[in-house]
Amino acid sequence: MKYVDLRSDTVTWPTDEMRAAMAVAEVGDDVYGDDPTVNELQEMAADMMGKEAALFVPSGTMGNQLAVFTHIDRGNEVIIPEDNHIVVHECGAAAIISGASLRCLPSDRGMMDPKKVERTIRFGIDIHEPKTGLICMENAHSTGVVHSLSYMEQIYSIAKKNRIPVHLDGARIFNAAAYLKVEAKEIAKFADSVMFCLSKGLCAPIGSILAGTREFIDKARRKRKILGGGMRQAGILAKAGIIALEKMTKRVCEDHETARYLAEQLDSIPNLTVFKDDVHINMVFFSIDRDVDPMYITEELKKEGILVNPPENGIMRLVTHYYIGKEQVDRFINVFGKLI
Ligand SMILES: Cc1ncc(COP(=O)(O)O)c(C=O)c1O
Repeated sequence: MKYVDLRSDTVTWPTDEMRAAMAVAEVGDDVYGDDPTVNELQEMAADMMGKEAALFVPSGTMGNQLAVFTHIDRGNEVIIPEDNHIVVHECGAAAIISGASLRCLPSDRGMMDPKKVERTIRFGIDIHEPKTGLICMENAHSTGVVHSLSYMEQIYSIAKKNRIPVHLDGARIFNAAAYLKVEAKEIAKFADSVMFCLSKGLCAPIGSILAGTREFIDKARRKRKILGGGMRQAGILAKAGIIALEKMTKRVCEDHETARYLAEQLDSIPNLTVFKDDVHINMVFFSIDRDVDPMYITEELKKEGILVNPPENGIMRLVTHYYIGKEQVDRFINVFGKLI
């Protein structure tokens, strides 16, 4: 059975067009730089990000960690909002791989106070002080909120004034771009390196991109080998990535529309508070204002062919994507309304 899967956009499978194109993709050994399809994807990705070069990596986590590994020296501080993916969902990798000290700042749905960022930067002048080696942002943020270009510009100009590089976790940069009605490169220009995912809402089965200057990407390519991320005939995967960039980036706004429809439908169910103002992309968050066993919700929905993650501290997140339309939303609302 095909479930109505609202747990994440990571659950999407490749489209029929991707599968057909993958079967006949031209390939070569990418560790030698010989895979024409990987090279085409990397050039296309660099161009869309407004950067000199790009590198295909197996996952968003590797792309982020490779950025930290490439930007900083061991022991450097990384200024980052306390709830960013790099801090909370990457297994402490920045400490393990790069010897980074994450200097986590309070976050308002992924945004730091620019004044606080400026005050936190350190140059290692005092013998006790670690040096700030990197500043990180995440846009769109995992709360589904998109940050304005002016916020990003403020953080970027503070970083540049102090000669510190900026990395952007843009796992969902095309969702952010659709919300802001700009090209993705308009967001990426406020970062020296950017990672984005081809999987998730763009439906490629595997893969992310790290983009930056040619010099940065040359360094990162070597570090990707250290991490075991040098892939061989990866053109099979890159082909799906090319279709993701050509076609799927243009349609993510449909997922946002479905998310807004879902939020409206949820709002009509009693005992729920829907965070409607934060529905910027394909994510809907809401609280359940009565006592319900989280496992009861997930199990009862599963019996009806619907998958959701259990609420965390009473808050639930639902994510729309290519395989969720109004019909699937209506099916979910019908069952969920009765449960609540
Ligand atoms: C904001 C953000 N960054 C990075 C990642 C990591 O991507 P991956 O699961 O491909 O490692 C995710 C994954 O959900 C994410 O949401």
